[in-house]
Amino acid sequence: MEIRLAKSAGFCFGVERAVNTVYELLKDESNHPVYTYGPIVHNREVVGDLERRGVRVLNTPEEIRGIEKGTIVIRAHGVSEEISRLISARPGVKCVDATCPFVQRIHRTVREESLKGRNIIIIGNAGHPEVVGTKGWSVREAAVIETAEEAQNCPLDVNEPVCIVAQTTFRATKFEDLVARLQEKGYNAICMNTICNATQERQTEAGEIASKADVMIVIGDPASSNSAKLYEICRRVCERTYFIQRAEDLNLQLTGTEALIGITAGASTPKNIIEEVRSHVGSGNEF
Ligand code: F3S
Repeated sequence: MEIRLAKSAGFCFGVERAVNTVYELLKDESNHPVYTYGPIVHNREVVGDLERRGVRVLNTPEEIRGIEKGTIVIRAHGVSEEISRLISARPGVKCVDATCPFVQRIHRTVREESLKGRNIIIIGNAGHPEVVGTKGWSVREAAVIETAEEAQNCPLDVNEPVCIVAQTTFRATKFEDLVARLQEKGYNAICMNTICNATQERQTEAGEIASKADVMIVIGDPASSNSAKLYEICRRVCERTYFIQRAEDLNLQLTGTEALIGITAGASTPKNIIEEVRSHVGSGNEF
């Protein structure tokens, strides 16, 4: 019996880099106390573990103003220019920017294009921290569009040039549809498709493995929408798909005839949990 773990299972490159940054900083006492602006990843186990090691989560600019020493880490989603400056300007406080390089590139585009005189349109969810941060790099007007109706009612002047960018996790087909609607309105637009393919790759690989597997295991929090989506994709092609949060949840009913067991995990599932599940399945405990 083969156990195949998806290469794209778990954290994407940007989140893994940010989480590792925090653990690295903790190794050196001179960085302490360590703070993150917002939870470093939406995973209770990881945030809880960091909390036990003394890492505190800051949620507001006021809380940043209250910090007098230590290190503040900017997570993979990034922050607005204002927040970035606020952290960097704190005397006695070190700012470590773990913004994903793909998000940084969007910030640069937004800043440069708005400086050149273009208004900014972000296709994404206005309440998402990444979008809030991206919006904060525009020096001109910026609008966030998520639905056809919002595209129709876009508040930006149609006679002024615009630059369109996307939230990194936005669905590609929906992005294209919204861009077309904005262009129909007559905007003179340059359009940057800034969608990151980490999510797409994870989903495609999960589907491919599940289509060949006798049993598929999806590890993730049921409350996480990308994990639920992975389960849905796998379940469609592999009837025996299990959706679990950790190794203890796994109650595999194997017949002994299985040739391939596939494993994947949502974007906020840490490596150690994935490894635990893999070795649990590999140990044959469930036979
Ligand atoms: Fe992750 Fe960076 Fe893409 S945070 S989803 S690798 S933009």
